[in-house]
Amino acid sequence: MSENRGKFNSRIGFILAAAGSAVGLGNIWGFPTQAAGNGGAAFVLMYLILAFCLAYPAFMAELIIGRHGQANAVESLKKISNSALQKKFAFIVGFGGILCAGLLMSFYSIVAGWMVAYTVEPITTTLGATDISTWLKSHSTSRNLLFTFIFCSLTILIISRGVSDGIEKWSKRLMPALVFLLVALTAYVLTLDGAMEGLKAYLVPDMARLFEPALIVDALGQAFFSLSLGTSVIIIYGSYVSKQENLVSLGAYVTLIDVSIAFLAGLLVIPAMYVAAANGVQIFNESGALIDGDQLVLTVLPALFDTMGSVGVFVAFAFFALMSIASLTSSISMLEAPVSYTVERFSISRKKATLLMGALIFATSSLIIFNFDLLFVFVINLTTKYGQPIIGMLCCIFVGWIWSRSSLLEELKQGNEEAENQFFWKIWPWYTKLVCPLAIAIVFINSIL
Ligand code: PFF
Repeated sequence: MSENRGKFNSRIGFILAAAGSAVGLGNIWGFPTQAAGNGGAAFVLMYLILAFCLAYPAFMAELIIGRHGQANAVESLKKISNSALQKKFAFIVGFGGILCAGLLMSFYSIVAGWMVAYTVEPITTTLGATDISTWLKSHSTSRNLLFTFIFCSLTILIISRGVSDGIEKWSKRLMPALVFLLVALTAYVLTLDGAMEGLKAYLVPDMARLFEPALIVDALGQAFFSLSLGTSVIIIYGSYVSKQENLVSLGAYVTLIDVSIAFLAGLLVIPAMYVAAANGVQIFNESGALIDGDQLVLTVLPALFDTMGSVGVFVAFAFFALMSIASLTSSISMLEAPVSYTVERFSISRKKATLLMGALIFATSSLIIFNFDLLFVFVINLTTKYGQPIIGMLCCIFVGWIWSRSSLLEELKQGNEEAENQFFWKIWPWYTKLVCPLAIAIVFINSIL
């Protein structure tokens, strides 16, 4: 089995693919809006602390399980289990993560479909096709179905090509494009009237809010979602990493890129809101808070682009292209989770498995689209509020309590001879054993109460 498995061909290939999974709508949409609603820089500060102190250790736990197992999430977890009972537990956690990834993709691709539709809209508007433009911006079932289908098909096309020819190659193309668009848009928006006020709102912390429980819960949830934890995705990507690589630094690079891009997205989106306000667009709701969620991305920002005249057409196109690219590099990782399992468990070809899983996920998305009010928020909560924290916590328990310390160290030493004497090894095992599961449990219980 392992001879036929895919593999990342280069260090940079893995970093860009894992960062591609991490950097998505969560960074460019979720992070700035959460910061806007949670005291600006106070949220940013707490996010940075939690991302490095809790999410990074949990990320390392999943990465190392995968690299050791060199197989899909279920098999990798089974490999570190010692008894029949633990192997059953491994199946539940691994399969739960795969299910979570598939369900995540079913709502994520609907939102990503909106982003693709909004990328096409400036083009149809420029061509004078007003009816099509109105339809593209409508919340109709037909629009949602078509663009979710287009987005799922793109994801299927990339995943069917495999690890190095699909995931790695496309991450290497799409991630630089994403960074370029983000930097260019930020630089442009920061020159506009009103941007400095937005910058102040984003960067001057309201320290009184730093330890608010709601802010901490939001920040940890955001860090978990952003690093793609609790979905088995990082286990799978870890399983494609060569034994010569130093996992500690690989994980740190991915976390750093993810956090930096979220921070940069805040420098774009929050000042853009204040520019919109300077142009007469309403950016505060009735209770005086900044408008967030879908209203921010689908109403406030397009209204801003409309006030910019002909430049606005390019800016709108670039912004939604950026969103679409970020979604695509994340969704390919979501689809890889069930595909790798199906290929290895049922010994079928990658193409067949990709089509099968892609079709299943699109069918679930369609179900959500047809029952939008009932299912959309439900599936989001089920996966991000419950699934990801629980499975992420269980992965830490696997590494901290089930996997033998000597075997864990042996794995870590591959590609990093000095691991045993490094600061990371002195603190991380305790972190994954006690701090991470406990902190995640506390935050999780807090969030559901
Ligand atoms: N990290 C992605 C984002 O920030 O948008 C979302 C995500 C991707 C979550 C892959 C989970 C996952 F497995």
